[in-house]
Amino acid sequence: MKIGLIGGSGVYQMDGLNTCEEISADTPYGEPSAPVTRCELDGREIFFLPRHGKKHTIPPHKINYRANISAFRRLGVTRIFSIGAVGGMNENWTPGTIVIPNQIIDMTQGARPGTFFDEGRVMHVDFSQPYCMQMRTVILAQATILGEEAVDGGTYICTNGPRLESAAEIQFYQAIGAHVVGMTAMPEAALAREAEICYAGICIVTNPAAGLKNEHLTATEVIAAMNDASERLRLLLRAILLALHPEHLCTCGNALSKAGI
Ligand code: HPA
Repeated sequence: MKIGLIGGSGVYQMDGLNTCEEISADTPYGEPSAPVTRCELDGREIFFLPRHGKKHTIPPHKINYRANISAFRRLGVTRIFSIGAVGGMNENWTPGTIVIPNQIIDMTQGARPGTFFDEGRVMHVDFSQPYCMQMRTVILAQATILGEEAVDGGTYICTNGPRLESAAEIQFYQAIGAHVVGMTAMPEAALAREAEICYAGICIVTNPAAGLKNEHLTATEVIAAMNDASERLRLLLRAILLALHPEHLCTCGNALSKAGI
């Protein structure tokens, strides 16, 4: 079983895995954010990629999402867990709250290369359920076992960034049904679907979204909250990776079967 992990802000390596080696993975779309680290955990192959680069030098709007997903695809990865920092739009969610979203609104459309199907056959992949239900179930079950009160579901709205939002934008996003705001789930999730790879997000709330509590938001509070959550996240990921069943009970792997014109 080959599992991909994409680390977000503050997550630049995966501790506690064995016999790691770096693999440089070139793709038709260029180089991914960093060399992929291949590790082993109880017979499973884990491939880790820090989304913003090893030293956090790539801003969200400049990430080569196609290269990242393509690299995983070429390595034979069939499931991707995507870790991301988000602003919370529910006032009760304190920094460190884990949200497992089930829906996405994309505010980056047109601003980032977002498909593998620019040329050749016209493909319209189904994205009604952007996240793999089987993976979400495993994440939530393991969170419960570990005593984590992870939030089951929510809509992730993806902005282009790199600036944070205005208070009015957050009010608008709340009004259209979003629950967390981040800058990286899209086009990552859609590309994973086009590559027929299962994909699930593990979002860490690092701050109340703009205008909800503090007068100002800082990037340092985002990184600090991610660092504070890192040990809980590591334990949760380990449990998830060990609990994953090799059999696929979802349809993500056949996403292209009825997508072509
Ligand atoms: N907005 C957008 N992206 C984010 C935020 C936010 O408030 N916090 C962490 N990533």
